[in-house]
This record gives sequence, structure tokens and C-alpha cells, in this order.
Amino acid sequence: MAKPLMIALPKGRIQEESMALLEKIGWGCPEMFSGSRKLIFTRDDLQVSFMTVRATDVPTYVHHGAADIGICGKDTLEETRYDLCEPLDLGFGVCDVVVAEPAGFSERVPGYNGTVVATKFVNIAERFFAAKGVDVELIKLYGSIELAPLVGLSGRIVDIVETGETLRQNGLIIKEKIFTSSCRVVVNRTSMKTKFDRIQQLIEQLRAMIVSNAPTG
Ligand code: PRP
Repeated sequence: MAKPLMIALPKGRIQEESMALLEKIGWGCPEMFSGSRKLIFTRDDLQVSFMTVRATDVPTYVHHGAADIGICGKDTLEETRYDLCEPLDLGFGVCDVVVAEPAGFSERVPGYNGTVVATKFVNIAERFFAAKGVDVELIKLYGSIELAPLVGLSGRIVDIVETGETLRQNGLIIKEKIFTSSCRVVVNRTSMKTKFDRIQQLIEQLRAMIVSNAPTG
């Protein structure tokens, strides 16, 4: 019997959207939503296992081959920058990675040089500001990034914006967009060779499902 394909999914909303898509191609796994505390779920009939991890850990598991395939946001891929195959944009989980600040801040502090920026995306931020040739102080946070300028921890933030509601409710505005992110399928480079047929078949089924779900007109 072939070794199961191991698929790493990030916990939370992306996991639900990913499983909904997999369900549509017959790769659903209802046990994952049964309230179980298990971390690996196997569909013996498909010879596929699903593991659930923190979103930021998905590229790590795939890079090291502990998972053959992963689903995660482009923001996480840009932050971790592992050398992975990235064959498919799933089109959901769309958000912008931006520089944001309190309304009116740029009138007082127009330039970036010498300012303090809080973010969980320190690598993305470092590259972004380095490309502009400006020197900023980056402070790494792990959540609730919008709080930092409100309490004087930083002047600006680099964070993701989906609906814009968190920014709005906290009196922050977008200063500059860095890039748009969406969920991607990533594949370990060795698995792509050793399990090519199975992986390619999965990707093509997902691609066909995305195309057939796409709005027309
Ligand atoms: C993310 C992000 C923003 C928020 C943006 O936080 O860091 O805080 O979502 O969403 P919105 O534009 O729809 O308001 P997340 O929910 O992942 O939690 P965190 O703050 O703990 O990182």
C-alpha cells in the first residue's frame, strides 16, 4: 500500500474553506470537525492524511517533508520564504498586507525613516523598507497588531487587512499596500517528484473545481 499523502492545513477559517473545497472533489474528512482533539486524520480509502497546524507552521512542515502538501496564505509564504513548489492559487483568504497608521499620523511624520513599526511580518517589513532605502525600528508582535500605535508602542504597523473593520474601529488608515495575499497550495519539492502522479491529480481536480466555481460574466 502506498504511503498516505500528508496534507498540512492551518487551523481556523482557512481550514474550513480548504476542507469545503476538498469535500467538493470527494476528499472531505468530516471527522476533522467532530470536536476531536486529534491532530492527524486519515482517509484510508483515499490514502490521504490531514494534519492541522498553526498557519505560520505550514511552510515549515512542508519544507522539511513532514507534510507533502500544505495550504497557507501567500503572506505566510512571503514571511517564511522556504523553497516550495507553489502550483495553485485557491483564490480565497484574500487580504492585503499593508502599512497602516493612526489617521493624521503622516501629517506629523511624513517619512518612514527613523520610525517604529510593529508587525508579525518582520521579514516582509524588513524587505519592504530596505527596498525603499529607509531605516525603521521593527517590533515583533504575535497578534492584535493594531493595538501598538494606540498605546504608543509604535508609530505604524505592517499587518493584513481583510474587511478593514479592525483598522476602522481603531482609528487607523492604510498608508501603503505592500501586496495582496491569498491562499496557495504548496508542495514539498521532493514529494513533487516522488509522488508526482497523485499530487498532480489532486492539483488538477482542485483547479477544475475552482474554475467551475468561479463567477461567470
Ligand atoms: C488579522 C489581522 C487584523 C485582522 C484584519 O488578525 O492581523 O488584526 O485580522 O481583519 P479585518 O480587516 O477583516 O478587520 P487575526 O484575526 O488573525 O488575529 P490576531 O490579531 O490575533 O493576529
